[in-house]
Amino acid sequence: MRARTNWILVAVALAAGAFAGWLIAAAVELRPDPVRAALAAEPGATLPRAAATGVVHEVELVAAPATLPLLDGRSLEVWAYDGQVPGPTLRARVGDTLRVRLRNQLPVPTTIHWHGIRLPNGMDGVPGVTQPAVEPGASFVYEFVLRDAGTFWYHPHLRGSEQVERGLHGALVVEPADAPPPRELVWILDDWRLAASGQIDERFVTRHDLAHDGRWGQVTTVNGRVLPSFELRAGEVTRLRLINAANGRVFAPDFTGFDARVVAFDGVPVDAPLPAGRLELAPGNRIDIELRPRAEDAGRQLRIEDRFPRRAVGLAALDVVGAAQEEPWPQHRVAAAPVWASAVDLAPDHVFDLDAARGGPDGIVWRIGGRAMLHGEDHGAHEPAATLHEGEWTKLRFVNRSGRLHPIHLHGQFFRVVARNGRPAAEGHWRDTVLLRPRDVVDVALVPEEEGRWVLHCHVMEHHDAGMMTLVEVR
Ligand code: C2O
Ligand code: CU
Repeated sequence: MRARTNWILVAVALAAGAFAGWLIAAAVELRPDPVRAALAAEPGATLPRAAATGVVHEVELVAAPATLPLLDGRSLEVWAYDGQVPGPTLRARVGDTLRVRLRNQLPVPTTIHWHGIRLPNGMDGVPGVTQPAVEPGASFVYEFVLRDAGTFWYHPHLRGSEQVERGLHGALVVEPADAPPPRELVWILDDWRLAASGQIDERFVTRHDLAHDGRWGQVTTVNGRVLPSFELRAGEVTRLRLINAANGRVFAPDFTGFDARVVAFDGVPVDAPLPAGRLELAPGNRIDIELRPRAEDAGRQLRIEDRFPRRAVGLAALDVVGAAQEEPWPQHRVAAAPVWASAVDLAPDHVFDLDAARGGPDGIVWRIGGRAMLHGEDHGAHEPAATLHEGEWTKLRFVNRSGRLHPIHLHGQFFRVVARNGRPAAEGHWRDTVLLRPRDVVDVALVPEEEGRWVLHCHVMEHHDAGMMTLVEVR
């Protein structure tokens, strides 16, 4: 009898304890987390956005098959925007409105995604999620205000493994409101896998590509040309806008030995200019550098090489001419940057596991959080894997449980890498795409600002089409 009473007392005490615990938890939930609130309030925790100027740029982009002299001058059958590969460089001032009518004359449906641009969700170009696919013969009008000055690019968001590889990609340069750089070059880095015929190998998304880091071609190009040369004057500063538009290849252009500095990453000015030695651009990434050839190099031809592969590959040649008076480095307005020093110790709000499994039409599916969003499925029917709250400091963790490379790209917002493999990382810049090496754990932080359902995916086009995408809702 006594034992029974004791048990009842214990049960009542446990229940009371649980209730008290619940009350405390509920109270904590109601009170905003002061640490995170402080992180969200740090200067520069969100990027400013330019006000609209009211200037509208009307552009028509026709996506259609074309035959063009490319690579080393051979005639190549491609898919092109306005008959050009890369597509035309779109240019506007920050704050201007871009209105682009996409006319689809391809044999397949397509869309345009404006990589890195902060825009209303409905203009993001993700079929099934933000708009219906644009069918052959149909058109779609994209219209948005350019809130950030910088180097961006555009490409289809449907079967990118084929469409981007066949040539559909171009640069979008948003010039600053103050003086644009006096001299600049846009370099779109790409690679091509050719068949024995010399034409684009039409075996897209092979099992081999899926078991590796996507499709890596045997020919590397800058603006569609093998080893093009560019004339620069010694002493003069040129802004070089680098964009990696390859399906899977990582580029590591080597600027050691040059007077050069990194001034922007993924379209956003860096906190302070960074040394430009060996750069690393994963698919999707952009890096802007300022380059000033030295007087002693006048009359010489210098080579920029890609050192990502074991054997360096020539990307472009620089013909240094004459010697001008050495220009000073341009002044850049230093933007406030968040420190987020306490970020490393905070628990992530969401964890995304990256792995592969058997299955799907190609034999291998790539997954985020144990789920695959396969090409051809209705992506709009997927439930968001995470809900982020506008204005709240948020930490995301990406865990690469595979032995492959995954450049992870989040649409609609920029983020900062706060830790790599548990160690604090202060990169000194924002990103929209971060490369995970085999088994890497990368923590990023952001204060989401753009409402909507945004995709988070691997920018290796083959991994992407074999499922490596998920939805993140911001509200
Ligand atoms: Cu550059 Cu979702 O893509
Ligand atoms: Cu991947």
